[in-house]
Amino acid sequence: MAGLSLRRTRLTRHLRELARSVQLDRSQLIQPLFAVAGLTEREPVPGIDAVYRDTPASLLRQIEEDLAAGIDKFLLFAVPGEKRDQDFEHDFAVECIEEIKQGFGTELWLAVDVCLCSHTTHGHCGLLNEAGDYVINDATVAELARAAAAFAAAGADCVAPSDMMDGRVAAIRTALDQAGLARCAIMSYAAKFQSQFYGPFRDAADSAPVAPQLRDRASYQLDPARPADALRCARRDADEGADLLMVKPGLPYLDVLARLSAEIPLPWAVYQVSGEQAAIDLLAHAGLAKRDAAQLESWLAFRRAGATAIISYAARRGVALQQ
Ligand code: PBG
Repeated sequence: MAGLSLRRTRLTRHLRELARSVQLDRSQLIQPLFAVAGLTEREPVPGIDAVYRDTPASLLRQIEEDLAAGIDKFLLFAVPGEKRDQDFEHDFAVECIEEIKQGFGTELWLAVDVCLCSHTTHGHCGLLNEAGDYVINDATVAELARAAAAFAAAGADCVAPSDMMDGRVAAIRTALDQAGLARCAIMSYAAKFQSQFYGPFRDAADSAPVAPQLRDRASYQLDPARPADALRCARRDADEGADLLMVKPGLPYLDVLARLSAEIPLPWAVYQVSGEQAAIDLLAHAGLAKRDAAQLESWLAFRRAGATAIISYAARRGVALQQ
């Protein structure tokens, strides 16, 4: 190999390390958690390794383990024990948040998902109209703001609305500020696409849309074929007071993450969703990929594309962050 060699800097581990420009630290990972009301024993989430539908007690033990493994940032999904379509109660989530914060205080950072899809009988992210063919925007937003304020009052460090209604970030910011909870941050699911990669989550959170007149979330989640809408949503959420913005899913939307993070100077999170995780785990179980190396490769892709925070079901696995 005389003359120009682009391989020379790849030949040894030492030079490869010196040539790297993209780094990832465990402090940038956020671990999702599921707390399920009415469970007596925790259950594995089918399709994803080492992720559970926890009871409040098993959740505290799991968090202790995660902290010991160097993971101190979490995104909590609280699944209520009974379904209803109005007069929602958020007591279960509030109790979980209080217990976590009483147990661990500022040792951890706790974000809490704000949505109604685990609450409703029809599985939609808000209130349905009488005909059952439309998710009512403003009444849903009012309910989400009420939930967010309750979560923040219980000690949540951050609330994360995942519903995709119009105007929810502004309504939540106002509700938090008026309740004296100005220190609670908002991480907005700003560019959340309608996706087939949410399957294992919908089982875990009991939240699949089943309304006969409205069988999917296309009338509120973003169209995968329309990236310009993601940019408008992210700008709008930034203007309404979001502190962090998110792209979701991750790997199928790296182009969106790269473009939006270059255009909007807020911290960018990416959500490597349940179906993406299941795909990696399935490949590994089939002997077709090395699980941890595949995981790291996907996380590095998110860092390359501009994310500084990565929500990942595999955060707790202790994946070596250097190859
Ligand atoms: C609900 C919500 C979903 C996810 C997070 N919040 C599913 C959906 O929109 O149907 C998906 C997360 C995952 O798949 O890991 N609003």
